[in-house]
Amino acid sequence: MAIIYQEKERIFTLETLHTTYQMKADGRGALLHLYYGKKTAGSLEYLLPFYDRSFSGNPADVGNDRTYSMDVLPLEYPTLGVGDYRGTALDIENGDGTECVDLRYDSHEIRKGKYALRGLPAVLAHEEEAQTLSVILKDSVSGIRVELLYGVLEREDIITRAAVISNKGAETVIIQKAAGACLDFLYWDYDLISFYGRHAMERSVQRKPIGHGTFSIGSRRGTSSHQYNPGVIVAEPHTTEEQGNCYGLLFVYSGNFCCEVQRDQFDQTRVLMGLGRDYFHYPLNPGESFVVPETILCFSDQGLGALSRRYHDCIRRHICRGKYAHEARPLLINSWEAAYFDFTGETIVRLAKEARELGADMVVMDDGWFGKRDNDDSGLGDWQVNERKLGMSLKELVGQVNDLGVRFGIWMEPEMVSEDSDLYRAHPDWVLRFPGRTPVRGRNQLVLDFSREDVREAVFAQVCGVLDQGNIEYLKWDMNRSMADVASAKGAPGRVTYDYVLGLYDFLEKLTARYPELLIEGCSGGGGRFDAGMLYYTPQIWCSDNTDAADRVFIQYGTSFFYPACAVGAHVSAVPNHQTGRKVSLQTRGVVAMAGTFGFELNPALLTEAEKAEVKEQIRFWKNVEPLVREGDYYRLSNPYEEAFAAWAFVDENQERALLSVVMMEKHGNMAVSYVRLRGLLPEAEYVNSRDGRVYSGAALMNAGIPLPLEMGDYRGYQAEFRRTQG
Ligand code: GLA
Repeated sequence: MAIIYQEKERIFTLETLHTTYQMKADGRGALLHLYYGKKTAGSLEYLLPFYDRSFSGNPADVGNDRTYSMDVLPLEYPTLGVGDYRGTALDIENGDGTECVDLRYDSHEIRKGKYALRGLPAVLAHEEEAQTLSVILKDSVSGIRVELLYGVLEREDIITRAAVISNKGAETVIIQKAAGACLDFLYWDYDLISFYGRHAMERSVQRKPIGHGTFSIGSRRGTSSHQYNPGVIVAEPHTTEEQGNCYGLLFVYSGNFCCEVQRDQFDQTRVLMGLGRDYFHYPLNPGESFVVPETILCFSDQGLGALSRRYHDCIRRHICRGKYAHEARPLLINSWEAAYFDFTGETIVRLAKEARELGADMVVMDDGWFGKRDNDDSGLGDWQVNERKLGMSLKELVGQVNDLGVRFGIWMEPEMVSEDSDLYRAHPDWVLRFPGRTPVRGRNQLVLDFSREDVREAVFAQVCGVLDQGNIEYLKWDMNRSMADVASAKGAPGRVTYDYVLGLYDFLEKLTARYPELLIEGCSGGGGRFDAGMLYYTPQIWCSDNTDAADRVFIQYGTSFFYPACAVGAHVSAVPNHQTGRKVSLQTRGVVAMAGTFGFELNPALLTEAEKAEVKEQIRFWKNVEPLVREGDYYRLSNPYEEAFAAWAFVDENQERALLSVVMMEKHGNMAVSYVRLRGLLPEAEYVNSRDGRVYSGAALMNAGIPLPLEMGDYRGYQAEFRRTQG
């Protein structure tokens, strides 16, 4: 039983293999949070001391008891207007303009299986893999009812949370703020690890002590954003990769979000994960309900590494769906950095020939094949093949590529429109714009109003019109600007950002249902919408427009805290690198791209014969290690921000094989030798290094480590596969 209810005490205990989460509906009906952390037993009610809290207020229904205050109690779903002055999960503006909702326990239900959310992605599990707790809270004055949903995946050590807000009253209310999860910590110091960045430099890692005041990260860009990823880790200060307590909160949502972290007057810490507040004031009419997206919670007492591995397993097994969730992804060559807008059908066929020669599986025709699109100023929205430019029809092109034994993929950016397009000329009201104002341009394009079904339907017909023209097996779904003009020609402005994201999900759900064999790779100027929501529809996402291997080490390091390598679109590109001008060896570029989906983003015709031979060898090596990278356990073996080298490893479930990858980040004269220690092996087993045949015990590799070669040159990369000997 993963969910236990003690009726007399009204205590709910959620149990996973290694963790316990406990809460209690107290005598007033407040849902108090008692504990989340390493597995424990019995009632933890004793953790809450009640004493006179001085200036903190007391609710009327506790009479003169000055020891009971909403200002200090740990709460599962704190609301505004009841004397809790910390950040709140829910702010409702009632019909009369007042902002108050006082939620009390009403009832609960424990169900087999994992709940689903209307219109939103959420962790999926078979009935026997999960349990659901639904707790109903009600405000007797306004008629607001909140269903708190908890999903417990016992084996995975995962607890999910979401909320459904319903208006059972007689008046329309406005949701001003809605978080899906609140995590209150009674005591202790914590660090917050968050992931910030910019276009072409996503998910840099920041670790800072949680101090007094409120620290928040989020997005008001319409997408989860390059700037902050919707996932944070709360860690005790001494927590490392291998040891210590830490908690993760990962939002399963692709739009505006807000994560607030606050240390309060009594040194308690509150973490809220939910929808962004800007542009959000959602009217809820009587009888309607609103779903707050899911947050995936996880706790590890064995450091950050174990926390990440639990998230990786959860995402691989319970978020990613469809044919490719557990299948090798096609090894592709993408035309973007190979040709940009300057190509014909013949160019793509030549790329396909090169792909075949090298041993790649697929060629992807990126931006520039449709409408009037020879640069990024025009054409978006006109998804008709530019046969004049290609010199052939799409059907002919796909046919020629397939005839070479190479698979075909295509790029589209369905959420966008250029002002210089037939679509925009015909439907200027289909874009997001403030009435009477000229919309902000981003990459010279505007955002189509995906909150509107009629707009989505028209674009859906166009997308299908393309995909139906031939054997197209892959779609790169791009989204290349932030939202600015948050208003729709139909529908209330305060709904637009949320309805847009649900519209996108609805579109992708229909698309994946119609094309179950199609692999969709998400993209948003690289990794501007790299989140668990998108991974529900697109099992891989282009990690960054920055393909420089030295920068990618950092980008992929940050990405690895929540997301598995199989989700990380990563390609070898040409040097000097197009984003940084840096020259990094082909070997290192291969090592780094093999921490993701592995592919190429260059014109192979420009490679020397020696380089082609090296690429062939990389592809051969990749096909051998691909299952290990896709399904294996991932270990960060160094912190590239602090150490002279970046190192990581993949180990298979049976601890039979490990792939060690290293990039030297620093080079100095007369350098000291660096040693790397592996993780996740069987100490008593023997492993052979398949490159040089040398045999080590697992204990030696993990406890003593191995020296890294001292070779000349910047950013030297190394890879070694270790296989267990049959002894
Ligand atoms: C974005 C993507 C790139 C490429 C271009 C095409 O920047 O991230 O990979 O597809 O768009 O315009």
